[in-house]
Amino acid sequence: VAVNPLHASPPARTLVRRGAEAELVADKLIGRAVLQKRRLPKAYRHPDLDARLRASRTRAEANALVAARAAGVPVPLLYDADVPQATLTLEAVDGQTLREALDVGAGADGSALLRTLGEILGRLHQAGLVHGDLTTGNVLVRASADGKPGGLVLIDFGLAESTPDPEARGVDLHLLEEALEATRADGHALHAAFLDGYRSACTGHAAAITRLEAIRSRGRYR
Ligand SMILES: Nc1ncnc2c1ncn2[C@@H]1O[C@H](COP(=O)(O)OP(=O)(O)O)[C@@H](O)[C@H]1O
Ligand SMILES: [Mg+2]
Repeated sequence: VAVNPLHASPPARTLVRRGAEAELVADKLIGRAVLQKRRLPKAYRHPDLDARLRASRTRAEANALVAARAAGVPVPLLYDADVPQATLTLEAVDGQTLREALDVGAGADGSALLRTLGEILGRLHQAGLVHGDLTTGNVLVRASADGKPGGLVLIDFGLAESTPDPEARGVDLHLLEEALEATRADGHALHAAFLDGYRSACTGHAAAITRLEAIRSRGRYR
């Protein structure tokens, strides 16, 4: 039996990923590909506390996305923030994570990507925000028509904060360093390229890098 497309049911929403905190579901909104990021209830918390926590984290992530975007930091478009439902509707970025892009061998472009990421993080810090969970899995590389990597997009602002604290900035720098050194033989060189970009975009770079060095040596003697 032929199905009249006008009467066919809409395509099922597909679960993209279920993490510890949130699930991501692909959907369409006015013809555009979007992702719904919904924070999941935790059975071990009191239900009222759980609802309040999920709502406040959703609100905080929405506010951080908007503030980052206003500071010129590339982040997904935010189409909606349904705070009671703990759900954000985000632009679905077509691309891969920076971690994947480095693994498939952007080759000589790896340093260029990391330098650009440094500039982006510098802009975020310059605007008085920290990311709080800066890993190569929380950076997307847009797909582009010519096969070369497109622009970078910073995602996952669930732990972002508004603070000028050099310690919090140092934590951002250190988390990325650990992520690079754990997954890449050229992690050290990639992080150096990242710091070059960072210095060029954040006037408070010296204090933040001093904290990075302190956090590093604390780790060594842990
Ligand atoms: N706006 C987006 N566009 C495309 N992919 C995304 C987007 N947001 C998240 N993802 C994908 O989903 C994964 C998990 O999303 P994230 O916001 O990092 O949540 P979590 O808190 O579970 O880490 C990301 O690593 C990325 O692969
Ligand atoms: Mg993430």
